[in-house]
Amino acid sequence: QKIERAEEDTVAFTVENGIAWVKFNRPEKRNCMSPKLNRQMGKVIADLEFRDDVKVLVLTGEGDAWSAGMDLKEYFRETEAQGLGMIRKSQREAYSWWERLRWYEKPTIAMVNGWCFGGGYGPLFACDIAIAADDAQFGLSEINWGILPGGGASKVVADLMPLRKAMYHAMMGENLTGKQAEEQGLVTEAVPADRLKARVLEIAEALAKKDGHALRATKWAVRRMTEMTYDNAEDYLIRAQEALHNFGGVEARKEATRQFLDEKSFKPGLGTFDT
Ligand code: ACO
Repeated sequence: QKIERAEEDTVAFTVENGIAWVKFNRPEKRNCMSPKLNRQMGKVIADLEFRDDVKVLVLTGEGDAWSAGMDLKEYFRETEAQGLGMIRKSQREAYSWWERLRWYEKPTIAMVNGWCFGGGYGPLFACDIAIAADDAQFGLSEINWGILPGGGASKVVADLMPLRKAMYHAMMGENLTGKQAEEQGLVTEAVPADRLKARVLEIAEALAKKDGHALRATKWAVRRMTEMTYDNAEDYLIRAQEALHNFGGVEARKEATRQFLDEKSFKPGLGTFDT
């Protein structure tokens, strides 16, 4: 039957034990991204970003898709029918939440449970860590319907995959399994589908125990590095470390050092200090 989903229902989320589980919630449309979904996702992630009870955000999909990319009907056809102003508005609504997620204050994990196409590579790349089911399917299907991988998707594969693999992937429009996506650098790790949630939970719980300010500084630093010269990187990292001091970094480091050197209660090489 046809489902008319209200804007608020295009995204679902729960917060449990410091972890926000955010879902693309249009399973009947394979979670493709419509303007409504993009607006709602923008609101949801903004609301979660500074909540004290959220330490980690997981982005996943309801049903058998992660996201089937942009909505060919509502994002492309219907928007284009309304002219350039509406096209640009819809682009901004999509790109802005991906950008916010790329520079999110909290660590983020993409839990890729199924189909991931085209525009889905934007939020996929935005997440710091991506764990896929072995049998998830990844595709730059743009070429199959006569466009190029826009909305950052070409940039995503060029940044994450070896160039030969990225080029083949973009030109051929053949899908990769989760396992292949792992081998080619598109995701961090692929696991059997029945272990997906447990593995993501394990990572999220480990991240939730670490110092949030140091994590934020770390993820932003690593993202910045790819576009910096060595000298600029070195300088940026000194400043970023010093900026961390505004958030209690000096005290945290002193305490961690004390626990290691004096109390001998933990080893940084083997685990996280007690915050
Ligand atoms: N845009 C609009 N509608 C979509 C999209 C999409 N990207 N993906 C799925 N749907 C809709 C289908 O039209 C269908 O709607 P209906 O029930 O009203 O007929 C419903 O979702 C279910 O889709 P099916 O195709 O029936 O599902 P199935 O499980 O057989 O196939 C698959 C899943 C392979 C994901 C298929 O839906 C598909 O190829 N989707 C398009 C994927 C794609 O190429 N996305 C665009 C990438 S390019 C970009 O994002 C810029």
